[in-house]
Amino acid sequence: MKKILIVDDEPLIRWSLSQPLIKSGYMVDTAESGAEARSKIISFQPQMVLLDIRLPDANGLELLEHFKAEYPDIMIIMITAYADVGSAVEAFKLGAEDYIGKPFNLESVKQVIKLAFDKRKLKKQAETPDSPIDQQIDEDRLIGNSPEMIDVFKIIKRCAETNDKTVLILGESGTGKELVAKAVHLYSRRSQAPFFEINCAAIPENLLENELFGHEKGAYTDAGRRHKGIFELADSGTVFLDEIGDMPLAMQGKILKAIENKRYRRLGGDRDIDVNVRVIAATNRNLEQMVREGKFRADLYYRLNVMTINIPPLRERKADIPHLARYFLDIFNQEHNRNIEDISPEALERLMAYDWPGNVRELRNSIERAMILEDSNRLSADNLNLEAHQHQEQPSTAPATWPQPETGATGPTSDKFPITSTSTSTGDIQITLPAKGISLEELEKNIIQLALEKHGGNQTKAARFLQLSRDTLRYRMKKFGLQ
Ligand SMILES: Nc1ncnc2c1ncn2[C@@H]1O[C@H](COP(=O)(O)OP(=O)(O)OP(=O)(O)O)[C@@H](O)[C@H]1O
Ligand SMILES: [Mg+2]
Repeated sequence: MKKILIVDDEPLIRWSLSQPLIKSGYMVDTAESGAEARSKIISFQPQMVLLDIRLPDANGLELLEHFKAEYPDIMIIMITAYADVGSAVEAFKLGAEDYIGKPFNLESVKQVIKLAFDKRKLKKQAETPDSPIDQQIDEDRLIGNSPEMIDVFKIIKRCAETNDKTVLILGESGTGKELVAKAVHLYSRRSQAPFFEINCAAIPENLLENELFGHEKGAYTDAGRRHKGIFELADSGTVFLDEIGDMPLAMQGKILKAIENKRYRRLGGDRDIDVNVRVIAATNRNLEQMVREGKFRADLYYRLNVMTINIPPLRERKADIPHLARYFLDIFNQEHNRNIEDISPEALERLMAYDWPGNVRELRNSIERAMILEDSNRLSADNLNLEAHQHQEQPSTAPATWPQPETGATGPTSDKFPITSTSTSTGDIQITLPAKGISLEELEKNIIQLALEKHGGNQTKAARFLQLSRDTLRYRMKKFGLQ
């Protein structure tokens, strides 16, 4: 966890800086005076201090000098009024990493902080190229020391070393393909150049080429300006093609050509552009089978399949579960400002016994949701609710298809969603889907609200009615802010 100490005498500044930083995943503490800063720097041991240049009991610049002498590894960012640029310059001379001007813009503050941490990380990597992978990547940290994951780490290193070879990452949904792709980039000589990712499943076919290769001004009607694609933006770096199995066939041909010839053209362009990127692709689909079915180009498949990283599903490397659980506990303690110290033995037993069809992502979500429900400082098995969860996700309990609405069904009767009629005894429910789309979350919230109203606010009855466990209902009520 990255720890930041904010030193400022104005409570409003301390608050407005700490809230967004905590949300961004930093651990934050504050001090309102020079004296308090001196003691917190010892007790809290931050990696970074945001230091007001004017403090009631101390001169910020003197304090900076003192901190730099005593704790040279701590990064210090000064907080100064914009009018006070002279002292900002002075601060740089004394070893400050950067400064933030007051009044500040939150986005640029976050940027300054991230940049400082990134610079530090790169410096460390340059100094210790051989240190173990899981100590270097922090927010993109890959956890795991099962033999299976150790093999994955080894292959990541080998892929990183090749620098140019295309890498294909295979694994079920939620196994960490994206993290692995980033790790390959971070460990390669390309790590200082950009990493760009594109989700081939999320972008409509006609925009995908534009996103990948860019276009010239006037390439099509709306092409007002020249637009760089990610192959160009990621120059010298890495392009991560996520969900490659969902890439349309026509696009597959273009990608293959770009990879093979190491050059491509912008849409509407008349000259070739050289490519210097490494391509990493990932999918949770069975590409081999897709090739057999003619849904994925065989030539692209062989081209991508030069170096392959297979990430085993979590159920095949259960030894990783305790570490991952502990790691997520730390993360969410921070994020939700909680202090749950450990996981009860029964809870751990259940985590180990469960099959994790959604892999690490599901584990992460389960821990988070159990933590939201937990009142004590130890995560108990009761709040994990895995079996109920698993049961609930089995489609057999839900209707396979929603019955079609009767013609002429009336529209919304209230400000709630248009549930035109319900009849729970037979299990059918009629919903008219509005043409403009529907928010599933809103719908869920409204159904929960209706069920609670129907049962006079009795949660046990409402839960039974909704075929949820009471904990699940409580969790969702909390999530939607229903009381
Ligand atoms: N080994 C790991 N250590 C720490 N966190 C992990 C690990 N593996 C996965 N995660 C976390 O689990 C979640 C899912 O990981 P990721 O998005 O990389 O999965 P994915 O394989 O790309 O899934 P999908 O196929 O659904 O896109 C993320 O929050 C990620 O940070
Ligand atoms: Mg992914």
